[in-house]
Amino acid sequence: MSSGATAQSTRTVAGASTPGVRLRLLEPGESAVVLAVFASMSPRSRELRFLSARPRLSDRDLRMLTAVDHRDHVAVVASVPPEHLPIGIGRFVRDQHEPETAEVALAVVDAWQRKGVGTLLMRTLCGRAAEVGVRRLRVVISPDNDVVRHMLTRTPAPVPLVHSDGWTMEYTLALEDVPRPGAHRALSTMRQHQ
Ligand SMILES: CC(C)(COP(=O)(O)OP(=O)(O)OC[C@H]1O[C@@H](n2cnc3c(N)ncnc32)[C@H](O)[C@@H]1OP(=O)(O)O)[C@@H](O)C(=O)NCCC(=O)NCCS
Repeated sequence: MSSGATAQSTRTVAGASTPGVRLRLLEPGESAVVLAVFASMSPRSRELRFLSARPRLSDRDLRMLTAVDHRDHVAVVASVPPEHLPIGIGRFVRDQHEPETAEVALAVVDAWQRKGVGTLLMRTLCGRAAEVGVRRLRVVISPDNDVVRHMLTRTPAPVPLVHSDGWTMEYTLALEDVPRPGAHRALSTMRQHQ
C-alpha cells in the first residue's frame, strides 16, 4: 500500500495474505460495504461503535463514513470468500488540529467477532497510520467496552487513559510503541478459530 494513493477498487493492504480474510481499502463513496457491515451488527455492537443507539445510518452518516482519501481518512475492509462478504471495517480519521493524531474506530460483524478480525484491522491501521505520518491513535470508547479495553492492555507499552467523563473513555496509543510488523500478541496475525 503506497501513501498518497488514488481510488482503485482492488487495492489490497498489508496483512491481506492472512488465510481466509482479505483486506482492502474502502474506496470513496462505497456505501454498500458500510451498509452491509452495519446490517450485520447487533444493536449492542452498533451502540458500542457509535457511542449511541444507532438503528440506522443516515445519509449524512454514510457520506462521512465513505469520505475516505487513503491518507487523512483511511478505512480498511475485511472480507471473506467466496463473494468477498464484508465482515468488518476499521478506520482512522486524522485530527485537523493535531495532524499527528487520528481517531480510530473498529466494527466487526457479530458473527465474526472474537476470531481475530478486530486485531488484524487494528494492526493494519497502525501500519498505515505510521506510513502517513500519524504518530498517535486516539481510541474513544464507552466505559463498558470491555473488549477494546482488553485489546488495549495487549499493547507493548501501557496505553494511557487521557480523558473520562462518565460517558466515554479516551485512550491514546503511541505508534512508536507498536512494533511493525506487529510482533506483539495484540497486533499479531489473525487466529483461525473455525
Ligand atoms: C471491538 C471489536 C472490533 C473487536 O473485534 P474482534 O474481531 O471481536 O476482536 P478479536 O477477535 O481480535 O479479539 C481481540 C481481543 O479481545 C478478546 N475478545 C473479543 N471479543 C470478546 C468478548 N466478547 N469477550 C471477551 N473477550 C473478547 C479476544 O479474546 C482478544 O483477546 P486476546 O488477544 O487476549 O485473545 C468487535 O468486538 C466489535 O466490532 N465490537 C462492536 C463495536 C466496537 O466496540 N467498536 C470499537 C469502538 S472503537
